[in-house]
Amino acid sequence: MDSENVPPLDDENVPPPFVVGIAYNLKKGISSDCEDLEAEYDSYDTIDAISKVFAAENMKVVPLEADGDFIERLKASGVDIVFNIAEGIHGRGRESQVPAILNFLGIPFSGSDETTLGLSLDKALTKRYLSTFRIETPPYQIVRSPDFKLDTSLTFPLIIKPNAEGSGKGISDLAVVDNEEQLSELINKNFKLYGQPMLIEKYIKGREFTVGILGNGKDMTVFEPMEICYLQHEREHQIYSYKVKTNYQKYVSYNCPSNLDTATSEKMKSIAAQIYEALECQDMSRIDFRLSEDGTVYFIEINPLPGLAPNYSDYPMLAGFCGMSYGKLILSILNNALKRYGIHCGHRESRGLNG
Ligand SMILES: Nc1ncnc2c1ncn2[C@@H]1O[C@H](COP(=O)(O)OP(=O)(O)OP(=O)(O)O)[C@@H](O)[C@H]1O
Ligand SMILES: [Mg+2]
Repeated sequence: MDSENVPPLDDENVPPPFVVGIAYNLKKGISSDCEDLEAEYDSYDTIDAISKVFAAENMKVVPLEADGDFIERLKASGVDIVFNIAEGIHGRGRESQVPAILNFLGIPFSGSDETTLGLSLDKALTKRYLSTFRIETPPYQIVRSPDFKLDTSLTFPLIIKPNAEGSGKGISDLAVVDNEEQLSELINKNFKLYGQPMLIEKYIKGREFTVGILGNGKDMTVFEPMEICYLQHEREHQIYSYKVKTNYQKYVSYNCPSNLDTATSEKMKSIAAQIYEALECQDMSRIDFRLSEDGTVYFIEINPLPGLAPNYSDYPMLAGFCGMSYGKLILSILNNALKRYGIHCGHRESRGLNG
């Protein structure tokens, strides 16, 4: 990584550089029957874009791929803090893996901790938890095998999603079903492809929004809701599916600030903040909503580890619409984390970090 501007280490009067590690999981281009197998992972361009932001601040950047050698790589890195965007490897708790290791080793990191990430990746558990805060979320059922009986309280149309995925993974054009036959066909197919419990949820017809949050406590910024406006009228193109996300120029336009009336916009922002606090999120998150035709704001899901791909991911996009550049957003996430730990960049020795 670029370390041109870093002062030489052998000069006693010059403090050593501040070292920031970036923990990530890379797309590997593995071919599979499952076209969205690597949907949640990052491309090298994202790691490079984040590295450049830190290098421009004279920080030393250490890339830390979160693979089988991650722990050794981390221990050898001498990092002061880790900027975590790693999605983890296996299981519904995979997003917790890197934060849990960092906490175990006592290494500071940006973003939410393992408990928040583990809970939030499980959509049904999150809905259940948030219902205790009276957050409105579509009625749902979790099914753990293709042999199931649909709850009589659920009425078609229904949307089917793998319970612990993100990035539109497992949400195809045909994710919405209108009858029992379509439902059972899709559940069978999804169990084979994704091998995990499926969430059956009432399909909410209406407008779609996502709300970004940055920072903590009194430093928290709730950005204006960004509307995902569907350009095509067929229902299958009114779902922010993996296909729609990857071909977004064809299927959607983004509107931020949206033309929502002030009361609804403020209500959505306040629900987003309430969810962020209820889940004890740290530094950043993105929360998805549907606004039904009767005006109800429905929580769909939260992404405490939102994608940070420049010119692609929704979180940097909505921050950009609200006047915050990519570089400023990345630095602000890091600064919020540094503040939580009481770390001041540039006074490395006095913190006693890294031995
Ligand atoms: N109950 C619902 N009613 C209507 N549409 C829904 C519902 N649940 C999901 N969707 C549609 O499917 C999309 C993807 O669902 P969801 O946000 O749960 O998946 P995800 O893969 O975790 O998303 P992300 O890419 O934000 O991580 C939503 O953005 C929305 O368009
Ligand atoms: Mg989503």
